[in-house]
Amino acid sequence: MCGIFGYVGNSNNAAGIVLAGLRLLEYRGYDSWGISVKRGKKLDVDKHTGKIEQAITQLPKSTLGIGHTRWATHGGVTTVNAHPHLDCTKEVAVVHNGIVENFLELKEELQRIGHHFVSETDTEVIAHLIEEYLKKEGFASSVRDAFNRLKGLSAIVVAYAPSAEIIAAKSGSPLVVGVGDNEFFVASDAVGIVKHTRRVIFMEDNDMVILGKKLKLIRLPEGKVVKPLFHTIDWEFKNVQKGKYKHFLLKEIYEQPQVVENIAINYGADTKRLSKLIEEAFGTFMLGCGTASYAAIAGTYLFSRVAKKHVNFSIGSEFAYLEDYLTPKSLLIAISQSGETIDVVAPVEKARKRGSQIAAIVNVIGSTLYRQAQHKILLGAGVEKAVVSTKSFIAMVAILILTAYTSAKRQEEAKELLMQAAGNIRVILQNAYVKRIKELAKKLVKSSHIFVIGRGLAYATALETALKLKETSYVHAEGFAGGELKHGVIALIDNETPCIVIAPNDETYDDIISNAQEIKARGGFIIGVGPKNNNVFDIFLETSDAGDATMLSQIVLAQLLAYYLALYRGIKDPDKPRNLAKSVTVK
Ligand code: G6P
Repeated sequence: MCGIFGYVGNSNNAAGIVLAGLRLLEYRGYDSWGISVKRGKKLDVDKHTGKIEQAITQLPKSTLGIGHTRWATHGGVTTVNAHPHLDCTKEVAVVHNGIVENFLELKEELQRIGHHFVSETDTEVIAHLIEEYLKKEGFASSVRDAFNRLKGLSAIVVAYAPSAEIIAAKSGSPLVVGVGDNEFFVASDAVGIVKHTRRVIFMEDNDMVILGKKLKLIRLPEGKVVKPLFHTIDWEFKNVQKGKYKHFLLKEIYEQPQVVENIAINYGADTKRLSKLIEEAFGTFMLGCGTASYAAIAGTYLFSRVAKKHVNFSIGSEFAYLEDYLTPKSLLIAISQSGETIDVVAPVEKARKRGSQIAAIVNVIGSTLYRQAQHKILLGAGVEKAVVSTKSFIAMVAILILTAYTSAKRQEEAKELLMQAAGNIRVILQNAYVKRIKELAKKLVKSSHIFVIGRGLAYATALETALKLKETSYVHAEGFAGGELKHGVIALIDNETPCIVIAPNDETYDDIISNAQEIKARGGFIIGVGPKNNNVFDIFLETSDAGDATMLSQIVLAQLLAYYLALYRGIKDPDKPRNLAKSVTVK
């Protein structure tokens, strides 16, 4: 959601560097974009609606530039509302990620003293506020004083025409500073930077950084100079390119066997630590949003049946209404690919303030959630660029399987199941199997609804399968617990309504087959997914048995079905589904 990229250094191709940086951040989701560069003592601005795609910019040569991909919140998708936003003098340019909660109040105050606004955005107030402070103080103090007045969670990067520096500050949304040879980069995500340098600083909340000839890190609100903590990114630029694949989504689907194997081989100690925390806690809560919330649901089933432990579940955005009974003995396990989802980060912060233990299962090192948690497990899934989450989900579930089995003193068994699942995923990724998935996708191309049912752990599979279909192919899909069918959903079953039945070889098999019979009796078209065929299935897609890890190959099948269904339904870029963002940093 909204991408920021800034450059200052020796190269006079700032506009090109910023444009290329924004392109790498496209996956976060956006609907307009813009760049500003310094030309002598002036700022030039170039803004557009729509996608960057093959865009080139006519901006002049410059050694300083800032850019932004905007995902509209305040004000429609227009060129005027696109960032960067300027002040009245057109000497201050601001790009911003987040929401200025008190923008109306600030706007009225600024309008009263003569400032003229051109956009509907909250961001524009920041430029005017800085302009106001510049009347009495320097660039850095003006940015500091303006930033201190903003309410809500924001990240900004500011250019000022007379200055050879850019200044960034953050209070919530992520910012990473890249440190090169006589050049600096600042971006919402290290993905945009790693092409230039792997030496980075993950900015903390209330950090402000001045980048020019040197780097100066300042702690807000007072403005004390602090020593930066440098990190070295351990992945390379080639990891964030599509390679031989047409889309990142497909590439990431194909990377999953290694992700699962990595967890089976290397996560013994991590999962032991997590299972010990659960053992010691007085009340454990798992939370996540979207795909990660389904991993958390899977976790609750796994802990109950394998480890005989009760674990609570909450959607991130709902946790705020449930957390009154958190104590310092509670354990909160927050699950997130990006580690930036505000609906996860915000309740975690509240729980932290109550003294509860925080464990994070997260993909992005240095992310807000990663930094919030005392106990951290990295997913190790590598950079995930498609908006729709695939390998991260698989990694989350694999880690939860291993943790639950570790709690039950069955870690070795879980490792074997995961290795088996990785092998089964490889079978699904082979051409012969993919051909069958493509045939099914062709058959479903005109369906307006798809239902997915499962019970127990397979209920989480059903939910995730439906979400993949919705997000990727825009077909209306719903996942249900098999037992809920006759409590309402069955009214929707019509002649030929496709229904995917998740039927693992576990205690749910007989009951889910009965549910499939009920659907069939009302004319439904049954697609069975599991290790065992059954007469009730009109189509059967076999996923070999790997015990509780069977879920992993069933999910991969669902991902491929969603991907091909999207292509056959004419969706051009399944990497960037409409209206969605990779990391949702606003409530
Ligand atoms: C967005 C994405 C989803 C993702 C969810 C949670 O809504 O579109 O695909 O599952 O955020 O993201 P997280 O980074 O916290 O796992």
